[in-house]
Amino acid sequence: MSLKSAYHAFGIKKKWCKQMAKSKKIRPRIPEGEAILDTPEFTMEEYSERMKKNMGFEYRNIIKHIIKSIDPPQGAIILEIGPGPGWIGIWLAKERPDVRVDGLEPSADMQRVARKNAKDENVAERVNYITGYVENMEMIPDQKYDLVLSNDSLHHWENPLNGFKEISRVLKPDGKVYIKDERRDLGLRAKFIVHVLGRLIAGNWWKYWKSSIDASYTPQEVQQFLEQADISNWFVNTDFLGISIETK
Ligand SMILES: C[S@@+](CC[C@H](N)C(=O)[O-])C[C@H]1O[C@@H](n2cnc3c(N)ncnc32)[C@H](O)[C@@H]1O
Repeated sequence: MSLKSAYHAFGIKKKWCKQMAKSKKIRPRIPEGEAILDTPEFTMEEYSERMKKNMGFEYRNIIKHIIKSIDPPQGAIILEIGPGPGWIGIWLAKERPDVRVDGLEPSADMQRVARKNAKDENVAERVNYITGYVENMEMIPDQKYDLVLSNDSLHHWENPLNGFKEISRVLKPDGKVYIKDERRDLGLRAKFIVHVLGRLIAGNWWKYWKSSIDASYTPQEVQQFLEQADISNWFVNTDFLGISIETK
């Protein structure tokens, strides 16, 4: 079934299909704000459980990729930027009992939940949370980390250029990065998944997915930040729904 006929099968108007196909123009970024805090709609405890249930599979894939492809050295010290409820760093620490993980997180509400999750998963002595923003990590010395990782946080960073410079500063000379996020310049196939299937799957949380896409950077924007930061050994990978930045 072609995408066009799939749209029609889902009862989407022809006019709208044409508009989506034509909408190559990338809309300006709509910032989401940085730290994520408790809201009247949900607490970070609820957010944490929701993410564990819905994103657990994706988190496991990221951890598998880190262990198999990036392969941090024995005893590695790892920094996770914007860990939120902390599942990736916590499960990575469980899989690799030799590593230590620091989580740099501006939200006190997220840190409260992440600390409890680390304790419940019996890794609290090797997982530590630091309050701060990626754009200014002055509390962290140069060349401390073997790996800096981040998932779904880049679209919150107001100044990725400073963020990348700071990450580069706290990495060891042979340190690795793995930064994964959404992309704003979605093609037709991705728009179909987000706008049609996404609504069905994510239900009333769909609006948060949509707003994180609207806040995200395009691969070209990320590439420009890397060039401005004078970083030439990280590369930008893309798939139809997102981007990842990795060390060459
Ligand atoms: C959408 S959550 C993702 C949480 C987690 N990484 C995950 O994959 O489930 C984004 C996280 O990044 C944090 N954050 C936002 N701006 C940040 C910044 N400038 N520096 C570091 N963390 C930031 C937020 O507080 C939030 O915990």
